[in-house]
Amino acid sequence: MQVDVTDIPQVAVDFMNDDHAEAVTLLNRLFNTLETGNDHEVDGALSSFYQHNAEHFAREEEQMIRINFPPYTCHKGEHERVLQEMRETQQQWQANHDRAELNSYLKNTVIPWFVNHINTMDTVTAMFISQHCA
Ligand SMILES: [Fe+2]
Ligand SMILES: [Fe+2]
Repeated sequence: MQVDVTDIPQVAVDFMNDDHAEAVTLLNRLFNTLETGNDHEVDGALSSFYQHNAEHFAREEEQMIRINFPPYTCHKGEHERVLQEMRETQQQWQANHDRAELNSYLKNTVIPWFVNHINTMDTVTAMFISQHCA
C-alpha cells in the first residue's frame, strides 16, 4: 500500500501542505517497513509518524490561536482524538506485533480520516489563516 501525494487535497496555506506531504512520506515509509522491515524498524517508523502528526497538529493549533479562529476547540478536539487513537494503536502493536491489524488501521482508518480532515477542517482553517492580516 502506498499513498500518492497528488491525491492529497491542497489547502490555502503552504506550511500545512508541507506538513501533509511529510505525513504521506512517513506513512509510505511505515507501509514499506510493514512489508519488509523487522519489528524494531516498524516501531521506529510508527513513532516517527506519530511524532510528526503531533507536531503538525500543534503547528495548526498555534496559528488558530494567533488568529482567534472560532472553531479552534472543535479542530483541536479532533486532533486530540486521533492522537489518542494512534497512541492506543501503538500500544496494541507493542502488545501483539500484529502487522495485518496495524496495516488495516492505517489503510482503513488513518488514510480516509486524513483526506476527510484536510478536505473539511484543515481547508476551512487554511482559508481563515490566509485571509487574516499578519
Ligand atoms: Fe493538517
Ligand atoms: Fe488539522
